[in-house]
Amino acid sequence: MTAAFGVDIGGSGIKGAPVDLARGALTEERYKVLTPQPSAPEAVVAAVCEVVRQFDHHGPVGLTFPGVVVDGRTRTAANVDKGWIGLDAEGLFSQALGMPATVLNDADAAGVAELAHGAGRDEPGVVLVLTFGTGIGSALFVDGTLVPNTELGHLELRGKDAERRASSAAKERHELSWEQWAGRVDEYLDLVEKLFSPRLVVIGGGVSRKHEKFLPLLKAREARVVPAELRNDAGIVGAAMAAARAAD
Ligand code: BGC
Repeated sequence: MTAAFGVDIGGSGIKGAPVDLARGALTEERYKVLTPQPSAPEAVVAAVCEVVRQFDHHGPVGLTFPGVVVDGRTRTAANVDKGWIGLDAEGLFSQALGMPATVLNDADAAGVAELAHGAGRDEPGVVLVLTFGTGIGSALFVDGTLVPNTELGHLELRGKDAERRASSAAKERHELSWEQWAGRVDEYLDLVEKLFSPRLVVIGGGVSRKHEKFLPLLKAREARVVPAELRNDAGIVGAAMAAARAAD
């Protein structure tokens, strides 16, 4: 069996599990700890080590990060501690874990997993995977190839950062009904559709669990809009896939 390990670092939780790469599925129940607050690098690294040590894994580890990651360096930190900006995150995790680490953007990881094993399987052309959570994450694919770090959650919508208006955190913050929030999501989808004309939009993130509450409220559009299939496991699976690829 081809096994690798994935860790999903989110604003509220850090979770990890070994992954069967052929099936794109967790081989054991994932282990989760709360994300330290503040989410400073040393504290997060310690939490990640705690997660990985729950398992008998020795080999490549893939990790997601909720910001721009280029060549293993974390460049932005919209919803986490600013101490991550400019850090050699891959070096830091590799050293602390004593195993080779690969770090990639959280939405990119979820997207990679959805395209290989979920709602975007075998989908040609332009596919956009959007994750709605604390922020809005985006993963853009052309014929299955990822354009990393697109950061479409920070497009401007009504003069504001789009994720401030349309993330699921914004729904909670402003106590929006599903109808009100769906209206904001529609505005956001209008904008990304105008820019990229995707054939398919996959909606992921924690809120995709409740897709039947809001997907039917969205207006009809050219792009097909479907819920993610791997749900909460997408980040872990995509991170493990990236780690295995890097080790090849
Ligand atoms: C970050 C992205 C991330 C998204 C979802 C945004 O605020 O800038 O990098 O993918 O949140 O976590």
